[in-house]
Amino acid sequence: MRAVLLHETGGPDVLRVEEIERPEPGEGEVLIRVHAASINPIEWKYRSGLMPKKVPSVLGSDISGTVEISRADGFAEGEEVFGLAASGAYAEFAAARAAMIASKPAGISHEQAAALPVAGMTAWQALFDRAALQRGQSALIAGASGGVGHMAVQFAKKLAGARTIGVGSSRNREFVLSLGADEYVDYTQQEVGEAVSGVDVAFDTVGGAMTRALLATVRPGGVLITIASAPPEDAALERGARADMLIMSPDSTQLARVGELVATGEVRVEIAEVFPLNEVPRAHALSESGHVRGKIVLEIGG
Ligand SMILES: NC(=O)c1ccc[n+]([C@@H]2O[C@H](COP(=O)([O-])OP(=O)(O)OC[C@H]3O[C@@H](n4cnc5c(N)ncnc54)[C@H](OP(=O)(O)O)[C@@H]3O)[C@@H](O)[C@H]2O)c1
Repeated sequence: MRAVLLHETGGPDVLRVEEIERPEPGEGEVLIRVHAASINPIEWKYRSGLMPKKVPSVLGSDISGTVEISRADGFAEGEEVFGLAASGAYAEFAAARAAMIASKPAGISHEQAAALPVAGMTAWQALFDRAALQRGQSALIAGASGGVGHMAVQFAKKLAGARTIGVGSSRNREFVLSLGADEYVDYTQQEVGEAVSGVDVAFDTVGGAMTRALLATVRPGGVLITIASAPPEDAALERGARADMLIMSPDSTQLARVGELVATGEVRVEIAEVFPLNEVPRAHALSESGHVRGKIVLEIGG
């Protein structure tokens, strides 16, 4: 099969398409013929050496495709599924554990489905599992136009019914408002900590200086959830608030729910650009820019 391999860390061009053996699905796994995959920032962090990764390796986890071989209960050969690959997503075939995939709703494309797993489950877990966001509360989402953020804005507004404030640059104002945000803070014009105060939940998908700046927006008793930096736990305690880091854990029930929300049109998934497999270096360069609107998708096969 064709796959994109990482042999050594470096710039986007270290990623090369090669012919390798198909992975063998283990017990409780399926082999998926991958139709589409999507890029998550952790993959350029692995590629660049910012985060450690064993090589050689096929990067990527988000996939959508067709079950080619099933060694798991509940999934039949020929079934369309989406979820997280165990063996690397930038490939024509990927093995996946049954617990990490769900049936792809007929109403969504493979490109849409591949864009959902990491972004959808991360946003879901941050807002609902960690922050227990409730109707009538307020939620501030930093990085509101990104892969995780644009899901979070819609979940906060449409599912929780929270007053939702997005944070991003000028060019994404209209986009984030169109997702349902009630307010928008343009971080290129205003300090978020000066523009907003008293929120119940702040969700940080940006990291760095933004994480600490967001703490000033949270009310005493409120919570800051970050997926991108160490949480400022002590500073949060001093304010009578809580700061927590989330590492997403795969949950196929949540995955199926997110798929249904897109299939019914309640939630939309924004696809910034679709690249063929041999253009993964361009896809990585775009992700690394830090300013993608929605998700970057790889179209792999039919
Ligand atoms: N812990 C976990 O389990 C987990 C899971 C998923 C992702 N992550 C991490 O979470 C981060 C976000 O992931 P992602 O997939 O959403 O990334 P992404 O799609 O690359 O996010 C890009 C977005 O970030 C926005 N952005 C950049 N700088 C900003 C700033 N200073 N303030 C507000 N918005 C800003 C950009 O908006 P503008 O163009 O308007 O600036 C852009 O729309 C990454 O670091 C990723 O590795 C962690």
